[in-house]
Amino acid sequence: MYVKNISLLNYRNYKKLNVELTESVNVFVGDNAQGKTNILESVYYCAFAKSHRSSKDKELINWENSTAYISLLIGKNRLDKKIDINILRDGKKAIKVNNIKVTKIGELFGIFNVVMFSPEDLKVIKESPSLRRRLLDMELSQVNPNYYFNLVQYNKVLSERNILLKNRSFSEEILEVYDIQLSKYADYIISKRLEYIDKINFYGDVIHKEITSGKEVIKFKYNCTVNLENKNFKDNYLRKLKDNITRDREKGLTSIGPHRDDFSVFINNIDTKIFGSQGQQRTSILTMKFASLKIIREITGEYPVLLLDDVLSELDLNRKRYILRSIKDMQTIITCAGIDDLTDYLDDKVKIFNVSNGQILNQGRNI
Ligand SMILES: Nc1ncnc2c1ncn2[C@@H]1O[C@H](COP(=O)(O)OP(=O)(O)O)[C@@H](O)[C@H]1O
Ligand SMILES: [Mg+2]
Repeated sequence: MYVKNISLLNYRNYKKLNVELTESVNVFVGDNAQGKTNILESVYYCAFAKSHRSSKDKELINWENSTAYISLLIGKNRLDKKIDINILRDGKKAIKVNNIKVTKIGELFGIFNVVMFSPEDLKVIKESPSLRRRLLDMELSQVNPNYYFNLVQYNKVLSERNILLKNRSFSEEILEVYDIQLSKYADYIISKRLEYIDKINFYGDVIHKEITSGKEVIKFKYNCTVNLENKNFKDNYLRKLKDNITRDREKGLTSIGPHRDDFSVFINNIDTKIFGSQGQQRTSILTMKFASLKIIREITGEYPVLLLDDVLSELDLNRKRYILRSIKDMQTIITCAGIDDLTDYLDDKVKIFNVSNGQILNQGRNI
């Protein structure tokens, strides 16, 4: 799958932009704060209806305007797809796929797949579990809209259950109904996350050995608050909800479930979050992102579009080489401050765009 054309209107610092991309490597070069990441962000937005920088939608609209447009033309399975997004100041957005209105965000998932790798991804390893859950949920939702549906339903019932727990006039019958619903959605979410972690281990093992010249063995482990015994997540979860009811009522919160789960990354049996070097943490996330490229291809039959935001300069030679060799198989959009260290790896199919102050100065100069 690849982006053929990006067109932006009043998006961030782009008043008007129209770029034709190549099916291979596209490099956006320029100084800081010129609009390189803004381009990747707009592409990412078309896959998730959300910015990877998790800012508010209205921040995406050019300061001097009241509405922004993103339009992507995508080549997929030899067919063209068009995604049009209009973002409005009041936080609303209108999304169209092939000129047909999308009424729920879930309907957008699976139309266009991307994997983004950016410097902020280091946070996924180092910081709170919510970032790791978010990554799992986004990756799973983009290939499986049903996963997203179950997640939305789970969170809905969860917040209703929490309201009930805080309530003095507490109804056991309603709690029972919530618990049964919750365990049904949790069962699905947990089993999909476990499957995903299995696949990450499968692909990640080879990738990580290649990046580290066989020196390191990586292992991803899902940490579930629900007992995984006999794979009977539903009953195990229901039982644990009952066991924890006194505590949950005291706190007015549901203390177990997929919303509290996490995953850990071990390198040579050592937990990278606690003991890993910065380099190992960065490589863990690199391995995970490259494994997810393969997972998406396994599921959809095509590689997603790879977005590399300013990451090459931070990596050592082995890692850089691994990336630059791998991207030959898929469309890649790279942003960087200079291309000197890339030229050895890029062929004449690459397109280079110079970005300056919300404008592309030359459209796709070849190397
Ligand atoms: N809503 C907006 N309207 C106009 N300019 C914006 C908006 N949001 C961000 N910018 C500008 O975009 C630039 C940053 O773009 P970015 O793509 O992050 O830069 P970089 O080239 O370093 O990746 C800054 O100059 C910032 O002021
Ligand atoms: Mg940037």
